[in-house]
Amino acid sequence: MYNKPIFRPSFGNRPDSLVGRDEIINRIVEGLQSYPGSSERATLIIGQRGMGKTALLLDLSDRSRSLGYIAVRVTCGENMLDNLIELLQREGSAYIKDNKSSIKGFSAGALGFSFGLTFTEEAQRTFGFRVKLQMICEKLATCGKRVLILVDEVDPSILQMRELATAYQELIGSETDIAIIMAGLPTAISNTLNYRTLTFLNRSQQISLGLVPVTEVEFYYRSAFERASLMADNDIIKKAALATDGFPYKIQLIGYYLSKLSIEGKALTLKDLNKANEAASEEVELKVFDAMLNPLSDMDINFLTAMARIDGKIRISDIENSLGITHGTAQTYRRRLLDAGIISSPRRGELEFTMPQLSEYLLKQDLA
Ligand SMILES: Nc1ncnc2c1ncn2[C@@H]1O[C@H](COP(=O)(O)OP(=O)(O)O)[C@@H](O)[C@H]1O
Ligand SMILES: [Mg+2]
Repeated sequence: MYNKPIFRPSFGNRPDSLVGRDEIINRIVEGLQSYPGSSERATLIIGQRGMGKTALLLDLSDRSRSLGYIAVRVTCGENMLDNLIELLQREGSAYIKDNKSSIKGFSAGALGFSFGLTFTEEAQRTFGFRVKLQMICEKLATCGKRVLILVDEVDPSILQMRELATAYQELIGSETDIAIIMAGLPTAISNTLNYRTLTFLNRSQQISLGLVPVTEVEFYYRSAFERASLMADNDIIKKAALATDGFPYKIQLIGYYLSKLSIEGKALTLKDLNKANEAASEEVELKVFDAMLNPLSDMDINFLTAMARIDGKIRISDIENSLGITHGTAQTYRRRLLDAGIISSPRRGELEFTMPQLSEYLLKQDLA
């Protein structure tokens, strides 16, 4: 048996604890408990890399099981529909109580299943995704089970995503007991995109996944440090929590580097924390910021850098002046960066960065 470390900073894993997400979880779980066909059964979670979208999907998948759901999780892509059906068959078959005598009889076959959730050869060949999904939902319903589809890394440009959206809408039209939770980057639902799937994404209950309260990180660190055998006084714990900025990925990174620096029987020092924070920040820059900035144009970066150079309130008029661009041009960049979830507008005419540290990183790049 492996002893799982408490802090594991890699994408897509299940954290030791999902810090600061109780409210969001409750809201989504409530939606799952609403009546079949309710619009609250379709949820879209939007957040930057490292905000914990995948971790949240994993958690919701577990929770949904106690609500009678058969939950299957796929990554959005051109093969996801086959995967979905196969996963449903695998996860769901344990709950199918086939009447033994009907297996040999014609009735089971007539419904399109040979046994459990396995389709007859004919059904497998003739029916498309939508019908297969409906058949599985109906059969599971007879055993008191319903279906939850979780789609990670949602991309509206993927054809199979469109097919899934259409199928889902048709199924809830006939009050099939099904729900869907999707997660993706802000760009996935950007206003500048024009795909039919977008209507579906935009109509679903949207949940924006942001930073978690630092006080909750501090509370979590108190127990986690103890379990990870990290010795630290209250001041260090508080400062460690502050250093995370409430960014979930950084909660893992800081904990991880502190564990590496910790010496048995010795309390962690401020120097240790500074070192851990430096290493953690570097990884955030590499794994989050670079990926975020990569698809942007030089002009987008100039716009962001101009923002970073402003101390205090960032007014769009100041950026226009500093870059010597017209109001119209500035609006184009502003819109694009808002869509990408990199900046937000706290008040009319004002902008701010959504991610902590990004401004410092841009200035550092600018000097290099
Ligand atoms: N609420 C949270 N509390 C603590 N750690 C979290 C939380 N959410 C995610 N993590 C951890 O942060 C890292 C990034 O999370 P992940 O779900 O992969 O992000 P995303 O899918 O949004 O890119 C993972 O190591 C994950 O375990
Ligand atoms: Mg993810």
